[in-house]
Amino acid sequence: MKILLFGGSGQLGYELKKRANDLAFEVVSPVTKELDITDKAQVFTLIRSLQPTTVINSAAYTAVDKAEEEPDRAFAINAQGVRNISEACAKCGVRLLHISTDYVFDGLLGRKLKEDDAVNPLSVYGRSKLEGEEFVRSICGDGGLVVRTQALYGQKGVNFVHTMLKLFGERDVLKVVDDQFVSPTWAGWLAEVLLDLVRLPISGTLHASCGGVVSWYDFAREIQRLSLESYAGKSVARIEPTIAAELNRPAKRPIYSAFDTSRLESVLGRPVLSWQAALNLFLREIGVAKGE
Ligand SMILES: NC(=O)c1ccc[n+]([C@@H]2O[C@H](COP(=O)([O-])OP(=O)(O)OC[C@H]3O[C@@H](n4cnc5c(N)ncnc54)[C@H](OP(=O)(O)O)[C@@H]3O)[C@@H](O)[C@H]2O)c1
Repeated sequence: MKILLFGGSGQLGYELKKRANDLAFEVVSPVTKELDITDKAQVFTLIRSLQPTTVINSAAYTAVDKAEEEPDRAFAINAQGVRNISEACAKCGVRLLHISTDYVFDGLLGRKLKEDDAVNPLSVYGRSKLEGEEFVRSICGDGGLVVRTQALYGQKGVNFVHTMLKLFGERDVLKVVDDQFVSPTWAGWLAEVLLDLVRLPISGTLHASCGGVVSWYDFAREIQRLSLESYAGKSVARIEPTIAAELNRPAKRPIYSAFDTSRLESVLGRPVLSWQAALNLFLREIGVAKGE
């Protein structure tokens, strides 16, 4: 099976390429300089000439706070770029698997979110990603699958786990938000799930995250607990809870955006990996935990 992957240089794209090669998929993944998804002609030419079995779109404008200052750029990539890909896929009869986010929700329900729960993005990033999702659903129909995920971390790129591991060794005290709740998701696990989905004929929208729910504060404490031995002999930051309002970040985030993953579990025929097990595997993979 031939996969055309957009966003292969990103955090999730890196894990996808690594695992797709192991599973003997043929993967073509142009870098942004070669293929900018906002360039409609380039996107059409590539998809028409390559005729992949599936396009995976992991390319996105992901600077959530900066998007508040540059909405045009965020919408150009996350909405119009996705429209270009959707139209090219629909025209060429190619399946599209598109990655989206929990930030399409406001998180005010206070329970795990289902695929058909009402959306209400709180930020430019969330609104631009929602518009992208809507293009996939309306243009690709049965040939499109929107996979929403959240709170990703992996080997490559800047993410919460890498940031915590660095700051534990640099700070005396580290304040972490205790009033926002997520299902932290290991990009390596998600990549395997996405490659399973490539082989399954499903469409619509799917929630894909690791299982369980935790505040950022408790997530940080678990990262520290599992990585403590790697700081042997050095002082380690004390983690203290704070509230999101104190950070005063430009973009508003959902308060409680954990996913109900029952649709994914029934499609895959297996339960999702818990966030704790995934974190354990990841910290072992990068050599900062021995595992339990
Ligand atoms: N990170 C999270 O916590 C999180 C949470 C929920 C959902 N998601 C979604 O998951 C997906 C992957 O996220 P990620 O963390 O892997 O993002 P990332 O590390 O920021 O990677 C984004 C990728 O998009 C590419 N890109 C940006 N603009 C492009 C353009 N105009 N044309 C072609 N490629 C372009 C980037 O290429 P360059 O390297 O050349 O810029 C990079 O490869 C995204 O759809 C994101 O919205 C992420």
